[in-house]
Amino acid sequence: MSPETTAVGPIGELEAIEKQVLEALGTADSTGQVQEVQISYLGRKGPLARVGKSLGGLPVEERRTVGQVANRVRGLIEAAIADKLAALESSEREGRLEAERLDITLPGRMPPAGRLHPLTEVLEEIVDIFVGLGFQVAEGPLVETDYYSFQALNIPQDHAARSMQDTFYVDTGAPEPFVLRPHTSPMQARVMESGPPPHYMVVPGVVARRDEVDANHLAQFMQLEGFAVDTGISFSDLKGVLEAFARQMFGDHLKVRMHPSYFPFTEPSAEVYVSCFACDGSGCATCRGEGWIEILGAGMIHPNVFRSVGYDPSTTGFAFGMGIERIAKFKYSVTDLRSFYENDLRFLESR
Ligand code: PHE
Repeated sequence: MSPETTAVGPIGELEAIEKQVLEALGTADSTGQVQEVQISYLGRKGPLARVGKSLGGLPVEERRTVGQVANRVRGLIEAAIADKLAALESSEREGRLEAERLDITLPGRMPPAGRLHPLTEVLEEIVDIFVGLGFQVAEGPLVETDYYSFQALNIPQDHAARSMQDTFYVDTGAPEPFVLRPHTSPMQARVMESGPPPHYMVVPGVVARRDEVDANHLAQFMQLEGFAVDTGISFSDLKGVLEAFARQMFGDHLKVRMHPSYFPFTEPSAEVYVSCFACDGSGCATCRGEGWIEILGAGMIHPNVFRSVGYDPSTTGFAFGMGIERIAKFKYSVTDLRSFYENDLRFLESR
């Protein structure tokens, strides 16, 4: 059989189909074109189907041979199409990814980071110092009874601090008078009532007073109460603790000075000053030329306070109380206490 003859026989036809498909696939450069090849050659009306149909008219021997070749060619074409499709799909996907690529190399816009309020930072710093000195931390209610706010603390009925001018009264409907605590000292009595000594405790918390609000006064502010109740506690323990605190808070070289003062719940009582950390005691704007800055009130717990919590009046202990805003004011050189509560970000971010 000559090649020409073969070319027109069914086997030659199949070989020609195979060649055409491989050529068409070779030039196809999109999955769409491959799909066209697939439909036109493998479809019901395609050349392979036509050869299949013509098998019936062939002698048995030849029908078998041609059938085998037809199957092999179909398998080959199917595999070639599948390979080409897979290759084109992956290169098309890469092209798409490349085209749709987002430039994420620019620095994004950072959301502004939050931070703790300067008062919170100062409060935490103060509490940390006392925890380092062996004190524990307790908190108590802002809405407090008249009893714990005053009576338990040896503050008599006619004491000036009890007048309506100084304290906010809260109408709870209960017969017992309630107040917004004007100081954190009620927690001295509450802690002592909760169990026998020793107690080494600091109590941070919000307090409220009916004060005219100005650069140096707020109607609501924070205090930190501290007290030590144990056997053999003396005034020098108080001074040592406050000196250790003041030096850690404001600087190692600070001096601490105490002035006689009066609080109903301590005897003796003292106002505690530290040498001005801004001018080292020579006198400047921060200390208003005094060289000293008053930072807290303190004293030895009054026997009447021990009596009211059921302790032996010969128990010993010291107590102190400081205003957090006042300490923060000196630490951050703030001239107006109100700025701590105005929520002006320019102020808050600069502290
Ligand atoms: N409670 C007092 C005040 O608010 C401060 C203080 C506390 C003084 C403890 C002595 C002892 O001013």
